[in-house]
Amino acid sequence: MNIVGFESSCDETGVAIYNTDRGLSAHVLHSQVSLHSQYGGVVPELASRDHVRKISPLFRAALDQAGMEAGELDGVACTVGPGLAGALLVGASAAKGLAWTLGVPFIGVHHMEGHLLAPMLEAGWPGFPFISLLVSGGHTLLVRVDGIGHYRVLGESVDDAAGEAFDKTAKMLGLGYPGGPKLAALAEQGDTGRFRFARPMTNRPGLDFSFSGLKTAAITALRDTPGYPELAADVAAGFQDAVIDTLRIKCERALRQEGLTRLIVAGGVGANQRLRRTFKSHFAKQGVTVFYPRIEFCTDNGAMIALVGGLRLRAGQCETGAAIIRPRWSLEELPALPGSAGP
Ligand code: KG4
Ligand code: ZN
Repeated sequence: MNIVGFESSCDETGVAIYNTDRGLSAHVLHSQVSLHSQYGGVVPELASRDHVRKISPLFRAALDQAGMEAGELDGVACTVGPGLAGALLVGASAAKGLAWTLGVPFIGVHHMEGHLLAPMLEAGWPGFPFISLLVSGGHTLLVRVDGIGHYRVLGESVDDAAGEAFDKTAKMLGLGYPGGPKLAALAEQGDTGRFRFARPMTNRPGLDFSFSGLKTAAITALRDTPGYPELAADVAAGFQDAVIDTLRIKCERALRQEGLTRLIVAGGVGANQRLRRTFKSHFAKQGVTVFYPRIEFCTDNGAMIALVGGLRLRAGQCETGAAIIRPRWSLEELPALPGSAGP
């Protein structure tokens, strides 16, 4: 089956074509970063309008990349939640219209399920079961994944997501949007030993996260220390290490609690090189396999949506509900795919 997948839940328009036997045959993406950067964050109305502009040309580009015509598609998948309502509506309306025109089934995909299963786009992915650490701008989740639709959320952020904490701290340091990569670059020049910030919620049991206090701690340290603003790199390094250390401690706790030795890190913060180095050296000693989808599949993309759509449509599932979009949607509500669970 050839499935086209659309992603428009936030500030990236992604379109991809996935063949359920042969894998990915096309994957195109447009990032809105330059559009939103002058405002210091995503402006939902501008995001929706830009998705409208880009979705048709990207669909054409994906067909060209795959060397296909629209009539060869067997199904249409689209992110229908969670995300920005207006942005989701653009993709969902286009995708549903396309499915109706072609007379093929449509399936609405959960954006986070896309991130959870993105490793399946890679040849060497370690297989089920695994613990997934999803660290993006909107979410920080620890999920036990036993198969497709077999998800148990073990922990999540009670306030800011890890990427959001990076972005807000970067903004306070005057680094602009999106701040994560900029703060990470600045932190590389800093001294990690100068500021040691707390590792929030690690000194009590449980797998939830809280990152909002860290940004306040970082900015207070910067303001109260003589030498401002030259110390910004040291503050960035201390902040980054606190986030990474907290994530590492919770991952280790989740793996031990669940008796698993496979960890998959997904979402934009998974692109952080310091996080990758820290996790690699730490978990290797514990016999834990850490796997990252390639960076373009870690951040938002259409490929993960086409993949999930393909897996679910092939199993006979398709959209029957009346809801067009689901801006709020729990992962644990998703139907399991029979026979997909690992050993
Ligand atoms: O998964 P993603 O592309 O989008 C969603 O939020 O769904 O994640 C984007 C987030 C942003 O907060 C961005 O600042 C952060 O990932 N990010 C990073 C790095 N690259 C992206 N955070 C820290 N270090 C990085 N190198
Ligand atoms: Zn995402």
